[in-house]
Amino acid sequence: GDQLLVDTYGRRHRDLRISLTDKCNLRCTYCMPEEGMEWLAKTQQLTVDELVRIARVATEHGIDEIRLTGGEPLLHKDVLAITRRLASLNATPEISMTTNGLRLHLLAGGLRDAGLTRLNVSLDTLDDARFAELTRRSRLGDVLRGLDAADAAGFTGTKINTVLMRDVNDDEAPRLLNFALERGYELRFIEQMPLDAGHTWTRERMITADEIFTQLSAHFTLEPVPARGAAPAERWYVNGTSATVGIIASVTRPFCGACDRIRLTSDGQVRNCLFARDELDLRDAIRSGATDEDLARMLGVAVAAKLPGHGINDPGFIQPERGMSAIGG
Ligand code: GTP
Ligand code: 5AD
Ligand code: SF4
Repeated sequence: GDQLLVDTYGRRHRDLRISLTDKCNLRCTYCMPEEGMEWLAKTQQLTVDELVRIARVATEHGIDEIRLTGGEPLLHKDVLAITRRLASLNATPEISMTTNGLRLHLLAGGLRDAGLTRLNVSLDTLDDARFAELTRRSRLGDVLRGLDAADAAGFTGTKINTVLMRDVNDDEAPRLLNFALERGYELRFIEQMPLDAGHTWTRERMITADEIFTQLSAHFTLEPVPARGAAPAERWYVNGTSATVGIIASVTRPFCGACDRIRLTSDGQVRNCLFARDELDLRDAIRSGATDEDLARMLGVAVAAKLPGHGINDPGFIQPERGMSAIGG
């Protein structure tokens, strides 16, 4: 099959984001409540064969980058086997991962051997006490060990994702950037989106891209990097070097117009957007005997139904029912 996943606005889809699990070993206050969530049952989750089959069909229709997310993807017991099988698909997609890094010190070498190409690690603070407060777990040391392990395993192009929150960690941008520069990682600051489980997001509490840029400009010289393509981050060269910093302004400067992503949740639902109102049930289709052609048709239907944008800034916007941890970051 060579029919590509092009939507009604002409956006061609190349990036499949697969959530491996809705579970997480942190409880970031902007994401999950202390007690966690009502986790999906095992039978609701895709098996490894089901997941790889959907990914293969997607790659036969133009998907050439697969990102593994969660929840926390490294909590999936078969994460290495999944990575290996995805990396060896005929279409040879790039396989990257977005992780909180807690288990990375155990798995970095295995992931590299399995064919993972790139890692994005979430890190909102470099202060121990603040990390414990923000994530409700005292695990900063494990994240730092994980980054060391990723470097030692030979990963390059590692990125750090930081969500700044007002009066929580909004004083830490320069420190985090200095850390990333020393280590050779690209740091991206992310505007917080209305995707928390508690539905408590407010525009006033969000640190905007403009605020971040102003804060950084006081400490660093920033020169825009041209040629952004479908990437969510706007990027700048720092202090006249080739090192870069990014800002992901999902709310105040949406990049939906260039979006090339579709998502697969760990329970086998296809979503055409983080903020989609509808999901398409590929798991049920597979378990009812769907052919590869049927699955490809369903992917096409999901893409065809994609709206031009997320609508966060529209009057009457309603946050999706599932939070970021269940949809996939
Ligand atoms: P690379 O730049 O290729 O490394 O990947 P990425 O930036 O897409 O991946 P990552 O998973 O690290 O995502 C970083 C942040 O971008 C997430 O935490 C989200 O805040 C945001 N993001 C990712 N995907 C989407 C999306 O589909 N829509 C919106 N609005 N934001 C997204
Ligand atoms: N808005 C923006 N980013 C978020 N993340 C989690 N919740 C949100 C949100 N509401 C980030 C995490 C991690 C990535 C997977 O998504 O910090 O970097
Ligand atoms: Fe876990 Fe990521 Fe949610 Fe934090 S933001 S609780 S690391 S899923």
